[in-house]
Amino acid sequence: MSTEGKAKIVTTHVLHEMKLRGEKIAMLTGYDFSTARILDAAGVDIILVGDSASNVMAGYESTLPITLDQMIYHAQSVVRATKRALVVVDMPFGTYQGDSKLALNSAIRIMKESGADAVKLEGGREILESVNRILSAGIPIMGHLGLTPQSIHKFGTYVVRAREEEEADKLVEDAHLLEDAGCFSIVLEKIPAKLGAQVARELKVPIIGIGAGPGVDGQVLVVHDMLGITHEFSPRFLRRYHNLYAEMMGAFQAYIKDVKGLDFPNEREQY
Ligand code: KIV
Repeated sequence: MSTEGKAKIVTTHVLHEMKLRGEKIAMLTGYDFSTARILDAAGVDIILVGDSASNVMAGYESTLPITLDQMIYHAQSVVRATKRALVVVDMPFGTYQGDSKLALNSAIRIMKESGADAVKLEGGREILESVNRILSAGIPIMGHLGLTPQSIHKFGTYVVRAREEEEADKLVEDAHLLEDAGCFSIVLEKIPAKLGAQVARELKVPIIGIGAGPGVDGQVLVVHDMLGITHEFSPRFLRRYHNLYAEMMGAFQAYIKDVKGLDFPNEREQY
């Protein structure tokens, strides 16, 4: 259930059924009401209120600075716009690591104040206590393994993760731990396609990939990236469906020209 007690069409159960029948899951990020309304009407299955809002909405270099209050604000806007899709909200950096009571309080705030359907946490064994505590309150969790941007200062780079056997083995073990704990789905970011397919094969829960190849159960992209609003960032996994940067630039420049050239407003555009 989401806002105003309306039953959602896409539930965690529906996602499991999609995996069973081999139907791929389409997930995109959303941070605001107007975009979320289009995402939902288009039929996207999951809207992720990602902490990538820290980059694409607030202009920070990493996902670390965004706060719980800011994530709740974005989530409220998305939930108000969404009738069909499952809404998952990223728990921001510093609200769940190393303190499972804090983790539970943060997750409860997200669910209570935004009306979202689930939360997403980055990490495996090291956050298991927080995962268990949040799940014990009946809050659905999506895991996130591989390149976990909240740990960028540990990794030092955004290169592909788990190419080496040791890191790949840990990722598979973490994925099993998250599934056994009760997570309903897991995001795998920027890992070899073979490893993504292996995890999707071994686990019963849907695996959503971003740079994890075609063998997973669904895909996610950051909406600003796939629309081409951001243009300085071009990882191999990113397919751009539009060049909104150029379109918006053209529209803004045309408006400036019209205003300065006394062409706007014309006779039909005034009272
Ligand atoms: O914050 C985000 O947008 C994400 C996706 C990249 C999966 O976590």
